[in-house]
Amino acid sequence: MLDGTTRFAPHVVATGAQTSAFTVIEAKPSVSVVGLGYVGAVSTACLSDLGHRVIGVDLDPVKVGQIASGRSPIHEEGLGDLLAEGVAAGRISATHDLVDAVRETDVTFVSVGTPTAADGGCDYSYIIAAAEKIGEALRDKDDWHVVVMRCSIPPGTTMQVMVPVIERLSGKVCSLDFGVCFNPEFLREGVAVSDFRAPPKTVIGATDDRSANIVAKMFAPVDAAPLLTSIETAEMVKYVDNVWHATKVTFANEVGRLCKPLGVDSHAVMDIFVKDTKLNLSPYYLKPGFAFGGSCLPKEVRAVAHIAAGAGVHLPLIENLTRSNRVQIETAADMLRETGAKKVAVLGLAFKPGTDDLRESPVLDVIADLMARGVEVRAHDMAITAETNVSGQLAYVRHAAPGLTRVADHLPELLADSVDEALDGAEAVLVTHANDTYRAALADARVPVIDVVRLYDGADKPPVLNGIGW
Ligand SMILES: NC(=O)c1ccc[n+]([C@@H]2O[C@H](COP(=O)([O-])OP(=O)(O)OC[C@H]3O[C@@H](n4cnc5c(N)ncnc54)[C@H](O)[C@@H]3O)[C@@H](O)[C@H]2O)c1
Repeated sequence: MLDGTTRFAPHVVATGAQTSAFTVIEAKPSVSVVGLGYVGAVSTACLSDLGHRVIGVDLDPVKVGQIASGRSPIHEEGLGDLLAEGVAAGRISATHDLVDAVRETDVTFVSVGTPTAADGGCDYSYIIAAAEKIGEALRDKDDWHVVVMRCSIPPGTTMQVMVPVIERLSGKVCSLDFGVCFNPEFLREGVAVSDFRAPPKTVIGATDDRSANIVAKMFAPVDAAPLLTSIETAEMVKYVDNVWHATKVTFANEVGRLCKPLGVDSHAVMDIFVKDTKLNLSPYYLKPGFAFGGSCLPKEVRAVAHIAAGAGVHLPLIENLTRSNRVQIETAADMLRETGAKKVAVLGLAFKPGTDDLRESPVLDVIADLMARGVEVRAHDMAITAETNVSGQLAYVRHAAPGLTRVADHLPELLADSVDEALDGAEAVLVTHANDTYRAALADARVPVIDVVRLYDGADKPPVLNGIGW
């Protein structure tokens, strides 16, 4: 039995285990791995290599036979050797009987397939079938058991699809009678074994600390600092990671298609691009917030799209950046419209804090929408006062975006001298800059606040605040 924190159950290993193996595995939970495909076969071999007793389970008798005899069902560097070693040491066995495997182990890793369903969504049938057997097994199992989901699935699937089936079949309650984790798999096919030993990260979403501790301890030999989070966050991380990788590939390919007709060496460009770990390959620009703006980004995205069109090159990713950016602006405008406010305070006018640069500041488009609907606007910016000479910039605003002419004409009179003056009588607030002044001013806000910069993180967030991406 597992106590969840410090002690793991001794497990009686199969006949044939070497004496030394007993010593190692007695301190480690035993594991069943459901689904012996690309993910499950690697988990089976690598967890055994860490000293766990592992029972592999699959519906496919061929895969069961291969794993049981220490042969790899897939082509993967080093996998066959680890499986052969695990079988020879008595740590690895395989079966088609999932109920038995769950009963005989402490932790169950689920890595069955999640193919695309006919409607384009996720086919849950394999998960549900596995969950039914796990539930059946847990019905008569008194010891604490942890179910570790590893499939790539839409956020919410573990708790809303898999767990209810296990609870119904077992008659037990998740996180009281058994634990559930979501542990996404980030290993690259082809180098999966070496990635397992040096993972890019280990993410553990858990229903309870006890289960999180058990799984964290299992991965401790390869990653002593796993990232603990909620099940849903862990589910989402896997999708976001893969979409990001796809975005990187697509971006690099579009750069290549753009460079070639211009006679520029795309690899020379990207070799320099990746050297910049301050702005290019870094957390910078990677937090959901407001639309991009300013004098550079919008202009240069348009310029690149124009160059590509001139060269007869189609770049759907780059061409659609402006479109996606517009959706962010329109969403802020829609959220303000939904408040029904007739007077709105806007905190932060420049395209980012710390500058008085209004060129292509996305908040101006929101103000234009408010004004077009007859809403009274009062605005404040820490770097822009009535004394700030913005006439040159306003000329740019008029020139760059004709629809903003009205905003440019009225901007000086919209400006409030203080935050309090801007907020006075406001029925809703839009805040686009994060600073302590705005944070303090909005701490007791009673009217709807559309916060596009996440002023507050955590429990101190006033209930009237609403963000675009959170
Ligand atoms: N392949 C990858 O590199 C990778 C990486 C990360 C995550 N994932 C995700 O992990 C999951 C598994 O991927 P895979 O590539 O290993 O799939 P796979 O199709 O290679 O293997 C799935 C295995 O599950 C077995 N199976 C299905 N239902 C079962 C059941 N009820 N009981 C026992 N076995 C059952 C199948 O027979 C098959 O052998 C998927 O959700 C996938 O999206 C895959």
